[in-house]
Amino acid sequence: MFQNIKENDKYKNLVNGKWINSENNEYIEIKSVLDGSTIGFVPAMSQKEVDFVLENAKDAQKKWRETSIDERANILYKAASILEKNVGVFVESMIHEIGKDRKSCKSEVLRTADFIRYTADTVRTLENTCLTGDGFYGGSVKKTGIIKREPLGVVLAISPFNYPVNLSASKIAPAIAIGNSVVLKPSTQGSICGLHLVRVFEEAGVPTGVIQTVTGKGSEIGDYIVSHKNIDFINFTGSTDIGKRITSKANMIPVILELGGKDAGIVLEDADLDHTASQIISGAFSYSGQRCTAIKRVLVEEKVHDALVDKLLEKIKTVTVGNPINDNFDVVPLINEKSADFVMHLINDAKDKGATVLYGDKREGNLIYPTLVKDVTLDMELAWEEPFGPVLPVIKVKDYKEAIDIANQSEYGLQSSVFTKDMDKAFYIADKLEVGTVQINNKTERGPDSFPFLGVKASGIGVQGVKYSIEAMSRPKITVINL
Ligand code: NAP
Ligand code: G3H
Repeated sequence: MFQNIKENDKYKNLVNGKWINSENNEYIEIKSVLDGSTIGFVPAMSQKEVDFVLENAKDAQKKWRETSIDERANILYKAASILEKNVGVFVESMIHEIGKDRKSCKSEVLRTADFIRYTADTVRTLENTCLTGDGFYGGSVKKTGIIKREPLGVVLAISPFNYPVNLSASKIAPAIAIGNSVVLKPSTQGSICGLHLVRVFEEAGVPTGVIQTVTGKGSEIGDYIVSHKNIDFINFTGSTDIGKRITSKANMIPVILELGGKDAGIVLEDADLDHTASQIISGAFSYSGQRCTAIKRVLVEEKVHDALVDKLLEKIKTVTVGNPINDNFDVVPLINEKSADFVMHLINDAKDKGATVLYGDKREGNLIYPTLVKDVTLDMELAWEEPFGPVLPVIKVKDYKEAIDIANQSEYGLQSSVFTKDMDKAFYIADKLEVGTVQINNKTERGPDSFPFLGVKASGIGVQGVKYSIEAMSRPKITVINL
């Protein structure tokens, strides 16, 4: 049975199989983003403690890589069940720690359990195909190469605040499935969820040292961990700024980076406007737009601009707003004051430059009401910046060619949506867009988690998704038999 790790109000770290307190007795107070109450403390780990963790990770990996794929898969199946059974513990932590409503917290946890199971299934299937035993003849008939995939060693998993369970497990599960050990550095606001998650894997039977956590502020210990000699791979999700910093510090350490986005919803004149508006509103405002894959701008052909804006205005009125302690709401308070200030800055900059606010533009503390802005032009920050908040700019374009052009001018390249009934045009546009994924007649979204997921340009490096993550966190080793 999963044990709640709360003990004397201090959340201990799982380090080499022991739940430790901070060596220096230095803790970070984690406060509820909803009412400011203290929800716990996590150790602010010192460089010495980080060294200790990484030594353990190196040692533990040597044994872990010798375990069979079956053994690892069985632990993952167990972890998925333990996670599912304890969904309530996670939901209660998440509501306060990251301000997500109960329904969305629950769905994040359950989708993560599915992801872990899917990882176990996948690693088993891959075992029969490309992980071991793949062989080929080359050069002469006397030469046979046997290819085996090897783990890389110690994977540093760094996760963001917005999906603290899913975006930690999506790194941990594939990494350990192929025989790596993992050091998780969760987002500070989200670290209690991260610690709970690691506890799940521990209880499922992951051996000592194979998964450990490092807690502490990224701004203080981040540079030290990402450039540590014991790290063999960095799997990071977060902002583009921190992603860029990591690549500059992590000299030659391979990375996967999942970064920011400015996903466009491109609307053509023949689109089903009711469906389009529903998809755009849900894509833009769920969890207050604090999703990498939120729709962050609309590019609409001029012929249907006014009709679409009317529909968006009608549908935005159905977006629910409030404190998730009380009920399930689409729009909830943002993660912190700085984020709310930034969103308001983008709205004000757009207004100053001539944009029209049709709805919203109201703030109570860190809660910003869903805001719809039209007449957005390319000189406004709102046209280019990722707000990570509940504001949707609408940009009128002459035709779909101009939409492609503006979409591609963004520094980001995560996803885009195209709304049209004309499949030829949809495929043409999909082909031209510089993004990792194009959704046709659907909002932008990551799920299902079994799909490959990637960003191009400033939205990322590398590909995530179970099979791809396993491949990224391993390498082929060829042994040649010379007869
Ligand atoms: P963030 O500020 O970049 O933080 C992400 C993680 O990096 C946190 O764990 C943070 O720790 C850590 N960190 C901070 N400074 C660091 C450093 N110098 N070295 C190493 N790690 C460091 O991002 P966020 O605010 O949590 O998340 C929002 C951003 O993530 C948005 O831009 C969003 O688009 C992006 N995101 C992308 C995806 C995707 O799949 N493409 C998914 C989700 C989110 P602390 O919390 O201690 O600072
Ligand atoms: O923030 C990024 C998450 O990976 C978004 O996932 O689009 O399935 O909600 P989602």
